[in-house]
Amino acid sequence: MNTLTLATGAMPAIRQFVSSMKLHPILVNFTAALVPVSFACDVVARSLKNESLRHTAWWTLVFAAVITPFTAITGWLFWMGDDNGVTGMTIHKWLGIGLTVALGSLLAWRFQQHRQKQWATIPYLVMAAVLVIALVIQGHLGGEQVFSGM
Ligand code: HEM
Repeated sequence: MNTLTLATGAMPAIRQFVSSMKLHPILVNFTAALVPVSFACDVVARSLKNESLRHTAWWTLVFAAVITPFTAITGWLFWMGDDNGVTGMTIHKWLGIGLTVALGSLLAWRFQQHRQKQWATIPYLVMAAVLVIALVIQGHLGGEQVFSGM
């Protein structure tokens, strides 16, 4: 039995684990909190010239970028039959992937400023704000699917 066959065979058990432990609804909270906190800390740090908040902004973004791929993967594994064909969920699925990639790029950009001990630049903050708005839309779409039937 090769590795691929093993992985394919284990898939139903992994999906069952992710669904029963509700891993996606748990992980979304980290992504949804860390990215806006990083953005807010950078804005305040830049305005008040506060070093400590600048470091907080960097590290919260690092944690967000590490956790978010798991948020997206558990989202795929959490996918259920009634999510098929729902426009909001189709957007949620692809926006989630886009957000994960965008967050990686934002981290690389922010790393340059971190290394040069610079305040977050205005173009960076504009992009981070766009990402926060996209994240709000993402959370709204997921929540709408979960809670609209209640
Ligand atoms: C940045 C990434 C993502 C964020 C922030 C996010 C956010 C959310 C939120 C807030 C919910 C509602 C959870 C609850 O309160 O119970 C949700 C549900 C859900 N998300 Fe995501 N999500 C992300 C990525 C993805 C991806 C890539 C998929 C892939 C298909 C996905 C699939 C789902 C599914 C299937 C549900 C449950 C819908 C249902 O109950 O039918 N998510 N998501």
